Amino acid sequence: MNDSFSYKKTILVTGSGGQLGMELWKIADNYPSYNFLFTTKQDLPIDNFKLVKSFFDQQQIDYCINCAAYTAVDKAESETDKAFLINAEAAGNLSLICKAHQTQLIHISTDYVFDGTSVSPYKEDEKVSPVNIYGASKLRGEELVLNNNPSPIIIRTSWLYSSFGNNFVKTMLRLLNGKPGINVVSDQYGCPTFAANLAEVIMAIVKEDNNDYSYTGVFHYCNAGTTTWYDFASEIKKFIKSKCSINPIPSSQYPVAAKRPQNSVLDTTKIKETFGITIPNWKDSLKQCLLLLT
Ligand SMILES: NC(=O)c1ccc[n+]([C@@H]2O[C@H](COP(=O)([O-])OP(=O)(O)OC[C@H]3O[C@@H](n4cnc5c(N)ncnc54)[C@H](OP(=O)(O)O)[C@@H]3O)[C@@H](O)[C@H]2O)c1
Repeated sequence: MNDSFSYKKTILVTGSGGQLGMELWKIADNYPSYNFLFTTKQDLPIDNFKLVKSFFDQQQIDYCINCAAYTAVDKAESETDKAFLINAEAAGNLSLICKAHQTQLIHISTDYVFDGTSVSPYKEDEKVSPVNIYGASKLRGEELVLNNNPSPIIIRTSWLYSSFGNNFVKTMLRLLNGKPGINVVSDQYGCPTFAANLAEVIMAIVKEDNNDYSYTGVFHYCNAGTTTWYDFASEIKKFIKSKCSINPIPSSQYPVAAKRPQNSVLDTTKIKETFGITIPNWKDSLKQCLLLLT
């Protein structure tokens, strides 16, 4: 058989112990024409530059999906160096190595690169101005990824949740099942995103790219629709028929270390038009995740 027919492209998923990485792991069997390499923080710490280089030197990697990140938004305020090392320097290094090995990098970023003062959904080219350390470290990561490589794909997403890992949905399930009443912030607007949906979209992009189209640049992906943390929690309460009362409160009454953008809704027109995808509404995706969790 001709070699070009038998060659399977290899996809490296870094940070695969996290929410998005686990969702990619879960669907990998649906893509038998690719070899997947799933690495966790333990196997391949992306901030160990020597190790990352030798990992790439040892095998041909065609795609690198960088799900590795420092995601503790509040803790980042006091662990600035660590957040910047993983989210910025290590991402930039990965981008450089991908360029040297002709590996297509798909890097994940965040709505928190915006300051949240916009009254309309953020497009990819709008002014970035993070209001916390996590956002600043992710923004620096985007800059280094783009500076070090002519053709990375960066996907900014928001309010990620999954049946894997820790997230708002799981916290709400625990509280709604165990407490008579809770306070939830009602003046921050955003788009929840089921990581399973994002994982499918990433694989759709890989497949498109494999068809010899060439894509590069920043894209926004989140589930369709807009909500607040309060409405998000209320939807979870409705699904599980909890008796717990949810009290809407302003952000000012919920002190946390890191400031959040007030409105970080992302405009997803570009990713929909470029890749011909349809995006499920956040309420439908939330139900799918809740069916897995309850
Ligand atoms: N979660 C959200 O709400 C959200 C919103 C917008 C954008 N994003 C972005 O989406 C991407 C995926 O997020 P996620 O929610 O899947 O994050 P996650 O669940 O926190 O997963 C990140 C994974 O990266 C691992 N990691 C940390 N440092 C590492 C290192 N030095 N080398 C290799 N792996 C390392 C973490 O391990 P440990 O857990 O052991 O540290 C974890 O398994 C990230 O880029 C994130 O910034 C997330």
